[in-house]
Amino acid sequence: MCGIFGLITKKQDVPVARLIREGLQRLEYRGYDSAGVALVNDGNIELHKEKGKIVDINKNGALDNLKGNFGVGHTRWATHGPPTAANSHPHMDCKGEIAVVHNGIIENFQELRRKLTERGHEFKSETDTEVIPHLIEERIAEGDDLKTAVMNAVKVLEGAFGIVVCHAHTPDYMVVARRESPLTIGITPGETTYCGSDIPAFLPLTRNAYILDDDEIAILKPGEVDIFTLDGERVERDYITVQWSIDAAEKGGYDYFMHKELHEVPQKVREQVRMPQENIDAFARTIMEAEHVYITAAGTAFYACLAGKFQVTRFGKIYIQAILCSEFRDALEDAIPENSVVIAVSQSGETADTVEAVRYAREKFNAKVCSVVNVVGSSLTRYSDHVIITTAGPEIAVASQKAYNTQVTALTMVALRIAELKGYLDKEEVQKYKQAALKVADVCDEIIENEDHIKILAEKYAKKPNFYFLARGVSLAAACEGALKLKEISYNHAEAYAAGESKHGPIALVEDGFPIVFIAPPDSTYDRLIGNVMEMKARGGIILSVVSKDDEKIKELSDDIIPIPHDDDPYIIRLSAVMYVFPLQILAYFAAVHNGFDPDKPRNLAKSVTVK
Ligand code: AGP
Repeated sequence: MCGIFGLITKKQDVPVARLIREGLQRLEYRGYDSAGVALVNDGNIELHKEKGKIVDINKNGALDNLKGNFGVGHTRWATHGPPTAANSHPHMDCKGEIAVVHNGIIENFQELRRKLTERGHEFKSETDTEVIPHLIEERIAEGDDLKTAVMNAVKVLEGAFGIVVCHAHTPDYMVVARRESPLTIGITPGETTYCGSDIPAFLPLTRNAYILDDDEIAILKPGEVDIFTLDGERVERDYITVQWSIDAAEKGGYDYFMHKELHEVPQKVREQVRMPQENIDAFARTIMEAEHVYITAAGTAFYACLAGKFQVTRFGKIYIQAILCSEFRDALEDAIPENSVVIAVSQSGETADTVEAVRYAREKFNAKVCSVVNVVGSSLTRYSDHVIITTAGPEIAVASQKAYNTQVTALTMVALRIAELKGYLDKEEVQKYKQAALKVADVCDEIIENEDHIKILAEKYAKKPNFYFLARGVSLAAACEGALKLKEISYNHAEAYAAGESKHGPIALVEDGFPIVFIAPPDSTYDRLIGNVMEMKARGGIILSVVSKDDEKIKELSDDIIPIPHDDDPYIIRLSAVMYVFPLQILAYFAAVHNGFDPDKPRNLAKSVTVK
């Protein structure tokens, strides 16, 4: 996720650069590791971009002092290439006449970059975005005007994009285009036109907004907008008038960031599956070549480790020892053998215990480190031999949810790559699993469409003081994460256990009305789970089960169910980890709201625990 803001106006004496910088600052919740602005000024592009937050970049007016009567800015959340000036947007063509800002992921950028390089184009960054201005440059060299050049250029892009394009020698308009990544247009008719990745960018300036649909392009003139399909057909669409407050707009109209971010999960999972992770191969091979593999993290990230390690064992037949990062040194007590690998998972990449664990393993035992991290350039990435960047984007809510789901998806992609390299799965099988992983995102979309049912259950159970979350196999990770979510934002006491373990003590707590959540995908653990459900029910437990929409046996034993709308397809069933935890994250959100708590800012918690 990145923040984009641009404007073009016929008003005179407008501080265009300052308005763009202010618009970007309203979008810094979408990304803040670097920023830049480009203005068209009398046949030239005036550009300034740097690593860091906008307030620091602009401390001597470096952005506000740019001259020009229209242009665009970008505040970045790095996915390809660390946060540096070169990698920050806007990106330019060879001649420095075309400025492009982009939000999204170009999946085929390596191939495009290779071909452009062969044709003599020179690149200055490591980003996927930089291929776009060079593609447009070629089209213009062949005689296209800017609008046609952008139309033709984006047709060869695969993946998600929201872009804004300015050309030094096209002084009367700029072009925007989008596919999957959001892009909105604001307008003061007859005077000024704005564009932004979210409505908050221009809300203080106008409440009139056009929403672009996928594969649409728009020509922005001062106070005038023309929308077309990528095939050039004109689209007749009126603007809407936005009623949101600024705060509500930052949350995309949601009451809380957490709800907005939960609704981003399907798209983020798709992007994670499609992420051209050149590192997945190196990550997989490093694990395969090691004699001992550990996986470590804290909190929600640790439960992603549990799901991920299960998938690596299931698909790659490699056993991984999971150790909480705060326990890492004590658990291993100098006993890390030669040729070890530590996998570390972290949303922030700054969790002190996680960073300390990998530094200990690396510096004292020469262990290799493979990390799954959401923040490019974070501390953990600097101690890692291989890094997989999750596609979650900035996660504002303290309680992690979209990061968790992309972490599990990333580790599943590694597991599939190991299976392929070891010959357990052929290319066709791996492709079937990747298609199933994309279907997981569709299932999550359907869960969202039916979330009112989860809301009703959340409100029904929200006041219960104690819960068990029970599961077997890979679903134990979902049980742990579901219990943590309920604990950390709704403040209900909740414990997760291996269902088979519950009769070795925990069942003593069960009495009439005690709620037990079972996570029960139709996998190899299902039949054994039925007995655990019956044990709890026999002692008065209230059974809330997360089951397949076609489930019958456990459904019959349950007081309430959350149906997961997937087919009876062995491929998708073996990827149940995200589908079966997702409704539990939603359940916790609605329980917290029903109990009158702020799910974005739970008491006593911090987004990143940078102390040991
Ligand atoms: C997130 O829901 C939790 N509040 C917390 O446990 C978090 O997962 C943990 O602190 C690890 O953070 P990290 O992923 O940034 O390393």
